[in-house]
Amino acid sequence: VLMEKGNYRHFMEKEIHDQPEGCQHTIAAYVDTLTDRTRVEGIDFAGLERIQIVACGTSYIAGMIGRYLIESLADLPVDVEIASEFRYRNPSLRANALAIAMSQSGETADTLAAFRHCAQAGMKTAAIVNATESTIAREADVVWPIHCGPEIGVASTKAFTAQVSVMIAIAIAAAKARGRIDGAEEQRLVRVLLGAPRLIAEAIGLEGAIKDIAAEIAKARDVLYLGRGPMSALALEGALKLKEISYIHAEGYAAGELKHGPIALVDEATPIIILAPYDSWFEKSASNMSEVMARGGQVVFITDPEGARHAPAGAKVVVTAPGCDPLISALVMSAPIQLLAYHVAVVKGADVDQPRNLAKSVTVE
Ligand code: G6P
Repeated sequence: VLMEKGNYRHFMEKEIHDQPEGCQHTIAAYVDTLTDRTRVEGIDFAGLERIQIVACGTSYIAGMIGRYLIESLADLPVDVEIASEFRYRNPSLRANALAIAMSQSGETADTLAAFRHCAQAGMKTAAIVNATESTIAREADVVWPIHCGPEIGVASTKAFTAQVSVMIAIAIAAAKARGRIDGAEEQRLVRVLLGAPRLIAEAIGLEGAIKDIAAEIAKARDVLYLGRGPMSALALEGALKLKEISYIHAEGYAAGELKHGPIALVDEATPIIILAPYDSWFEKSASNMSEVMARGGQVVFITDPEGARHAPAGAKVVVTAPGCDPLISALVMSAPIQLLAYHVAVVKGADVDQPRNLAKSVTVE
């Protein structure tokens, strides 16, 4: 297949902009738009005791977001582990658990090895992959493709939001199968999910504002990303994207851990990106914002309209993403952090699609 960048400078930029359409394809595969019900086939979620997700890199972070959603909606225990750790530590496994390999390429060596380890323990296996002809897909009992089209940029963007979309559909389906929600709530949640592509597109519309912020961030030596709940996972993703393509040192932290270490790094030269939609964690994140500002930290507050109204004064910049149901906030908040990393890398003149020392698919240990 001939891959075209179209009018974009880089594949990564194109793939960020592809996300509304990519997620629409993903979601269409897992919901029935006539009935507004989920359609996640191959696994009986009612009879499951737990889920074990194994993955690397950005796919691991998508798994972390899945854990929040599946545990809170479906009351089904989920473990997520970095595949390279999992495979070497003799994890305590149960046969009545579902192993999920989350992998864009379906070829990551550590993820494959961890997945085989689960299969050998008698676990049922599911693969959430983009490459449906891959080794991981071939070995899985069930394949749940992410359907976002080929991803060329080494730093994953559209595969990430597609993976998260599948996780959301699984969370709703499992909640329904386990009797945690009724049919009407299932339909409400499915409609929220179906609305995600439009909101992602709106969030991508913040690109102009984010470009301006990127010019400032490009001067930083260190950048800190903070968030709570699913936003703590997205904080990791924001930091990962930035370091991967701009080579600026960045750390993502659960905001509650601020006091246990990272606050020591805060000074006037440290931009702090706080991801805080107006959800049940908002007040706590806002107080963390005040704490870092009191120490001179330059805060970029990424929130939604309600959060912007309630934010403490004093942020250097407030980025107002579209408001949405917490079910899809990880999808909507992804675009701003991806665009930020992208534009910082462009300002720095970095090779966005082929960052140094990184590979699209890591097939060695
Ligand atoms: C590499 C890529 C990342 C990707 C990770 C896992 O590090 O650069 O973008 O998230 O591998 O890849 P996978 O194909 O298993 O999702």
